[in-house]
Amino acid sequence: AGTPQKSKYIMALDSGTTSARAVIVDEYGCIVSQAQRAIPTIYPKSGWVEQDPMEILAAQIAVMMEVQFKSGIHSDRIAAIGISNQRETTIVWDADSGQPIHNAIVWQCRRTAPLADALIKDGYESMIREKTGLKPDAYFSATKISWILDNVDGAREAADAGQLMFGTVDTWLLYNLTGGRVHATDFTNASRTMLFNITSLEWDQELLELLNIPAAMLPDLRWSSGSFGRVSGEIMTHMPPITGVAGDQQASLFGHCCFDEGDVKNTYGTGCFMLMNTGARPVSSKNGLVATIGIAEGGHVSYALEGSIFHAGSVMSWLRDRLELVSSVEESAEIAQSIPDTGGCYVVPAFSGLGAPWWDPDARGLISGLSAASDRATLIRAACESMAYQTLDVLRAMEADAGSAMSELAVDGAAARNEFIMQFQADLLGIPVRRSEFVETTSLGAAYLAGLAVGYWEDREDLRQNIGRGRTFEPSADSERIARLTAGWHDAVARSRTNIH
Ligand code: G3P
Repeated sequence: AGTPQKSKYIMALDSGTTSARAVIVDEYGCIVSQAQRAIPTIYPKSGWVEQDPMEILAAQIAVMMEVQFKSGIHSDRIAAIGISNQRETTIVWDADSGQPIHNAIVWQCRRTAPLADALIKDGYESMIREKTGLKPDAYFSATKISWILDNVDGAREAADAGQLMFGTVDTWLLYNLTGGRVHATDFTNASRTMLFNITSLEWDQELLELLNIPAAMLPDLRWSSGSFGRVSGEIMTHMPPITGVAGDQQASLFGHCCFDEGDVKNTYGTGCFMLMNTGARPVSSKNGLVATIGIAEGGHVSYALEGSIFHAGSVMSWLRDRLELVSSVEESAEIAQSIPDTGGCYVVPAFSGLGAPWWDPDARGLISGLSAASDRATLIRAACESMAYQTLDVLRAMEADAGSAMSELAVDGAAARNEFIMQFQADLLGIPVRRSEFVETTSLGAAYLAGLAVGYWEDREDLRQNIGRGRTFEPSADSERIARLTAGWHDAVARSRTNIH
């Protein structure tokens, strides 16, 4: 790096599923300050997941203020702002009042599984896959929008009258941060709605009609790096421009500088998401992955293959908040390491079905292989290990689609701080696991997209200079033991899929 605006910084916002974060990044890609606030989740019924859009917004604005206060870097020294966000989560609001007409339906929510199944039964699967790269599933936004229009009193009429706006979390934040001036999204977020044609880069008329969603509700489409308006003067005095927007997993792909075909990263967040850059053409998966927009910057699109795991870090919060087995997530690593193995016990966290590569909305979580010797540490270790096993399944699917073996896995996200899980991951995969210096790669990616647009960084080469050293975990376990453990895991997964409920 070495560009002129040295006393300036980039602010990145990461509106994740479990927390809102704001970070300040300098020209070397170092995070100089950060603030974080938890966002509560509501579980109205089994498999249903919601959040209050006002809580998402309030938490985001609070951390934007806090990080300025903590660092002493105020809006006059913020050259640009980038946004990354939990994807697919669906918010519909009134165009006049700006009030949401329903809670946000979170990506993990399974309430629209019957709707997605009907699309498959009615023969639309290959058409949807061809246009959107996705498999019809309740995970994506489309069926969630339909559900809101069909279930909230007066919503259908209001939508037809052009009175409602839809947005994923990026759009909701943009709309509110710009004082209601901008209703837009970027191509990466759009590619997770199941309404966006990933080849023509437009909203797809045929899909909108199929799902009965008026086009007028949808946000404008933009590249991930470019102008998205200014923050309103009521929120930040000097009104910095918002010049980067990307779904969090795509932001992390960019933050890892996975610019070339074949580059792969895995993020351990609330869920776990592995993305492989597949270059200028989408790859149609034969192994339970989806095709999506990976990077939409610099005037051309790079596609990605993605494997989405619905519950990873959220298993740790479950141990803490629901089972009350640990008082902090950090404590779990220590306890997990206090025993040599789980003695054949597995936790399959299919809390809202299973995502890639199984795509089974009816699977439910289970704990298998308990014995009288099993104890608290057993459960904690098995829960930690479940993240690594799920990642193994997705990585094998990706290798099968790519037709070649992977030689290394780049990782980030909160659980990547957990050295026990990272070592176990390397042992399971039999390849080195390379953790970046900053596990906040998502925020870094959002900062990069915003910074490129205003010339804070010149080009992708400039960003590559920032790649830090990090730490690499080398595989060390014997293959016979790993084969036995993996077989036990697959037996447990099979059992989670035969639940009757
Ligand atoms: O697809 C959902 C994903 O974007 C959520 O990410 O970081 O909240 O687990 P995260």
